Amino acid sequence: MKKHILITGASKGIGFETAKILCEKNCTVTAVSRSKDRLEELAKSSDHISTLAVDITDPDAVSLIKKHLSENKLLLDGIIHNAGLLINKPFIELTDNDWKLQFEVNLLAPVRITRALISLLNKGSHIVNISSMGGFQGSDKFPGLSAYSATKGALSIFTECLATEFSSVGISVNCLCLGAVQTEMLNQAFPGFKAPVTSKEMSSYIADFVLNGHKFYNGKILPVAMNNPG
Ligand SMILES: NC(=O)c1ccc[n+]([C@@H]2O[C@H](COP(=O)([O-])OP(=O)(O)OC[C@H]3O[C@@H](n4cnc5c(N)ncnc54)[C@H](OP(=O)(O)O)[C@@H]3O)[C@@H](O)[C@H]2O)c1
Repeated sequence: MKKHILITGASKGIGFETAKILCEKNCTVTAVSRSKDRLEELAKSSDHISTLAVDITDPDAVSLIKKHLSENKLLLDGIIHNAGLLINKPFIELTDNDWKLQFEVNLLAPVRITRALISLLNKGSHIVNISSMGGFQGSDKFPGLSAYSATKGALSIFTECLATEFSSVGISVNCLCLGAVQTEMLNQAFPGFKAPVTSKEMSSYIADFVLNGHKFYNGKILPVAMNNPG
């Protein structure tokens, strides 16, 4: 039986590559992002990908995702909360709206999507939250990333809480705190920085982790970096 994985932020970067690798591993994938064109590009890579162009912060996002899954008679074996926003601004310049948007995309959307999809998760499912080394306690911190890092720290702790509540229903939850990966987001955060890891390499790790990591971990916040930032 093929495993079905939902991944957000699949139109580019890490999410795009992870979706493709999961299909190569004999999974089926629901890929969510805002960019319809890029999702259509992704869908061309495999017959096992269905796509949904939606902004995960929209009030109707959750019902659209649920509708898509039930119309296609899909139950889930995993969710990868990968979509992310990074606003790079000194603390003093960050507005309330910047803070709100950061938390909407990086924390509240995963919260709402998880809550809505619990009934569609098979026993033995694995939820993987994609955090950052910026959201890992004790890591080096960088100027301009206070709001982003705070959301990722919150996502990390949310992971521990959710794993405690879901252990009784056979659903595992883990959090991967990524170091630097060569994507558009990294260029925005650290212009000119050359990451030691490509998005394909990191995606290969994440795809394997969502399928197998919960045999070894639950409720864990795991750094995935040789150094910090990379
Ligand atoms: N690259 C790194 O060095 C690094 C390091 C640590 C952690 N991470 C984390 O890894 C994850 C993936 O990052 P990446 O580097 O691959 O970033 P990326 O290339 O900028 O891709 C981000 C993805 O998130 C989607 N997204 C953003 N806002 C969205 C929204 N409101 N609704 C739906 N989709 C949305 C984007 O798609 P659309 O624009 O089409 O919506 C895109 O597919 C993020 O959570 C990021 O924080 C990355």
